[in-house]
Amino acid sequence: MAHIIVVGNEKGGSGKSTTSMHVATALARMGHRVGALDLDVRQRSFGRYLENRAHFVQREGLDLPTPLLGVLAPESDGIDPLSRAVEELEASCDFILLDCPGSHTRLSQMAHSLADTLITPMNDSFIDFDLLARMSPDGKVLGPSIYAEMVWGARQLRGEAGAGPIDWLVLRNRLGTQAMHNKRKVGGALSTLSKRIGFRVAPGFSERVIFRELFPRGLTLLDLKDIGTEQLSISNIAARQELRDLIAELRLPGVSVAF
Ligand SMILES: Nc1ncnc2c1ncn2[C@@H]1O[C@H](COP(=O)(O)OP(=O)(O)OP(=O)(O)O)[C@@H](O)[C@H]1O
Ligand SMILES: [Mg+2]
Repeated sequence: MAHIIVVGNEKGGSGKSTTSMHVATALARMGHRVGALDLDVRQRSFGRYLENRAHFVQREGLDLPTPLLGVLAPESDGIDPLSRAVEELEASCDFILLDCPGSHTRLSQMAHSLADTLITPMNDSFIDFDLLARMSPDGKVLGPSIYAEMVWGARQLRGEAGAGPIDWLVLRNRLGTQAMHNKRKVGGALSTLSKRIGFRVAPGFSERVIFRELFPRGLTLLDLKDIGTEQLSISNIAARQELRDLIAELRLPGVSVAF
């Protein structure tokens, strides 16, 4: 059985597709067999990211480890598209990464109940926090909010089906080097909430221009040396370290961080 990693958050633009690409590619680069599915059937950013990689690799004659992109075929024989696509990838993959859309869809909801590991990237802002929990004006956590309730429902479903628990990690994305006050406040609120609703806070990614530049060539931070970048900038080295810390914190079965 493959280990399923779901990257989800009903908040748009929180870094799901960027995180999906980096985690899936990091695992492929470490020699694991990785499958990928883009459940954002309208935007398809993750699918297009992987397709861009395939084109770039072919054009440049490179050999870069690349996750295998699965397809969601229309429902047939009463088997839903997601279950079928996962089953197909499972035959040849150790890990399957599912990138969810930034809204509540049936596919996304189903994907959450398949998650062995769930990664929820969020911008370091109380607007993003609001999808996880409601807060009083004086900063008290009042209770879980829509997205956290959806994850709770997925956990219940898995419990009833005898599947293992979901290891849920919330990842703070686009952390600024400034605005220390906000960073501390969001960090404090997340730490309180993590104990209440059961997630771990993962080391996050800082706001870095490099994340926005890699998409057209389908590259990740880890590929820069392979395309002839001789010297990585300090920012890129720091970003690689952030990715390394994240992969270690995921504590995936059979994975020891080597890049
Ligand atoms: N750490 C970062 N630093 C700078 N830019 C980033 C960072 N993470 C993501 N971005 C940029 O933020 C935008 C949104 O990222 P991304 O598409 O990964 O989010 P998403 O959650 O998948 O969005 P959607 O909900 O629309 O699917 C993109 O332009 C991406 O390049
Ligand atoms: Mg996306």
